[in-house]
Amino acid sequence: MKILVTGGKGFLGSHLVAGLVKDGEEVRIFAHKHQDTSKKELAEENVVWGDIRDQTVVEKAINGVDKVIHLVSNFRKGGSDKKEAYSINVEGTNNVLNAALKHKIKQLIHCSTIGVHGNVRSIPADEETDFNPCDLYQETKLIAEKRVWEFYKETGLPTTVIRPISLFGPGDLRMLKLFQMIKKGRFFMVGKGNALFQPAYIDDVVRGFLLCLNNEKAIGEAFIIGGDEYLPLKALVRLIASELKVPSPKLKVPLAPVLWLATLCEHFCVPFGFEPPLHRRRVSFFQNNRAFSVEKAKRILGYEPHVSLREGIQRTIQWYEDHGWL
Ligand SMILES: NC(=O)c1ccc[n+]([C@@H]2O[C@H](COP(=O)([O-])OP(=O)(O)OC[C@H]3O[C@@H](n4cnc5c(N)ncnc54)[C@H](OP(=O)(O)O)[C@@H]3O)[C@@H](O)[C@H]2O)c1
Repeated sequence: MKILVTGGKGFLGSHLVAGLVKDGEEVRIFAHKHQDTSKKELAEENVVWGDIRDQTVVEKAINGVDKVIHLVSNFRKGGSDKKEAYSINVEGTNNVLNAALKHKIKQLIHCSTIGVHGNVRSIPADEETDFNPCDLYQETKLIAEKRVWEFYKETGLPTTVIRPISLFGPGDLRMLKLFQMIKKGRFFMVGKGNALFQPAYIDDVVRGFLLCLNNEKAIGEAFIIGGDEYLPLKALVRLIASELKVPSPKLKVPLAPVLWLATLCEHFCVPFGFEPPLHRRRVSFFQNNRAFSVEKAKRILGYEPHVSLREGIQRTIQWYEDHGWL
């Protein structure tokens, strides 16, 4: 069985590839050429370099594999404009769908996001909760997921959708800023810190993907995958501070001016192709409730998160310290 992982050199992708290789699967990666190639998860002949927006190279990557796990997205680019976000998340997914059908792929696992549910009003949200995307990334991920389901209905391509909860763990540099600021005593809460957050430890999310692979029960289904602990941001910050053995941050700033500043930063940076130092998606971290149920994955896949929030934080701190980030 040969499996293609698009975005296989990203944060989730590199952990997933390691998990697949450990399980004895044959893996091919689709990745952007410019990325650091120092981490050699796979021999060079098992990497197809290219842009997901290029149908020809996507076809080349999919030709000869049995299954595809599609992870590519503009996730880490707060400064994407509409055209770029749409082309990577929607048109890129369309390229994968067409190539998967052409090459008679036996299973496509499409990686969506819990962000398609946006700011959750009824807690905890599950797979049936209304969609409520709150930013460009979430909107384009939702358009892509809807396209995936239309395609499934039109063609019968065996498809599974996974909506991971917000990831953290060794290798992730997105949450690093939060840890660094808390450690240095520079963290300030934007707003009251009551918004709910549910961090998902990377190994648990990888386990969810592996449980969907080669699983008939996963075909035609969407699963929310992650840990099952959610808590207000202020409690998360206290927990991280206690694991870092530093005092809990006390500083707070009101939300409205920070949001205004983020809008201004985007306005001046995005049209010129610069990554804004602050953007609305980063501020939404302090605004949106993210609290989800993973019961469906437990019931159908036998999924169970193995790493508690505290343990995940400890392992992540250890990795940051070992790599000189903290
Ligand atoms: N991290 C989270 O909290 C989270 C939560 C829910 C869902 N997800 C989903 O999980 C998936 C993986 O996310 P991640 O955290 O692993 O993000 P990531 O580290 O940024 O991985 C995404 C990968 O896609 C690649 N990519 C982006 N644009 C591309 C293009 N045009 N052509 C080819 N490759 C391209 C990136 O390469 P470059 O870096 O070279 O551009 C990167 O390797 C995404 O679908 C994301 O929406 C993530």
